[in-house]
Amino acid sequence: MIEPILEVKSLSKRYGDFYANRNVDLKVMADTVHAVIGPNGAGKTTLFNCLAGAVATSDGHIFFEENEITGEAEHARPVLGIGRSFQITSLFPGLSVLENLRLAGQALKPAQGLVFWHPVPHDCPDIFHAHEVLERMGMQHLAQKEAETLSHGQQRMLEIGMALMARPRLLLLDEPTSGMGVDDIPQVISLIKKLREICTILLIEHNVGLVAEVCDRVTVLQNGEVIADGTPGEVAANEKVKLAYLGEAL
Ligand SMILES: Nc1ncnc2c1ncn2[C@@H]1O[C@H](COP(=O)(O)OP(=O)(O)O)[C@@H](O)[C@H]1O
Ligand SMILES: [Mg+2]
Repeated sequence: MIEPILEVKSLSKRYGDFYANRNVDLKVMADTVHAVIGPNGAGKTTLFNCLAGAVATSDGHIFFEENEITGEAEHARPVLGIGRSFQITSLFPGLSVLENLRLAGQALKPAQGLVFWHPVPHDCPDIFHAHEVLERMGMQHLAQKEAETLSHGQQRMLEIGMALMARPRLLLLDEPTSGMGVDDIPQVISLIKKLREICTILLIEHNVGLVAEVCDRVTVLQNGEVIADGTPGEVAANEKVKLAYLGEAL
């Protein structure tokens, strides 16, 4: 039997009396692209925050590669193999794309931390890996550009690249296309297709075209609860899902 790489059992997250997530069950199979969708405020980002350890769960359990990680600290999760894209706000705007990637790799090593004022040898393993990541992303030509001079779409791609520096086996992407123009979306689609060769991907996404084209499985949240789970086709035909999205563009 194939085991899920990630399994969430009865996860709840409460803020006071309010449930941002309630009894969420989720199984993400290895080597798949799995989407979490749902109307605004459904609890998608809260779920990701629980998976990444950025917020503590109120109830329930999270297993990664069959090990329980529910109480693991946020900084431990990339080391365990769970990567999450950084936010544009965590880019160093005045540093080059390559330096941003190198620092993301270095930040994983607590002993060194963010000691970026030391000169870096050209054979530094993080630099080598940063070049590999850039190549995979088709962004080699941007290596020496300062992060602040990139377009919004390119900055969002760099966020994903920074997460890849941890060599994650599970990559969490929260709305990778948000704020992008339609012209940038095919690039993200082709990137996700390439990345699935090296890791399992769990993403939150509003773009229906992207979900239909690259996702094997979709879980739908509404008011913090799972209301549907299946292939993109099954979920699109689900009456509860159609109702959840009434009045809102999917
Ligand atoms: N720190 C918090 N304190 C109180 N309520 C929160 C907090 N974070 C999120 N929420 C609430 O939880 C609900 C789900 O939010 P979120 O997970 O961001 O939804 P989504 O990502 O699906 O749009 C929202 O109603 C939001 O206001
Ligand atoms: Mg969100």
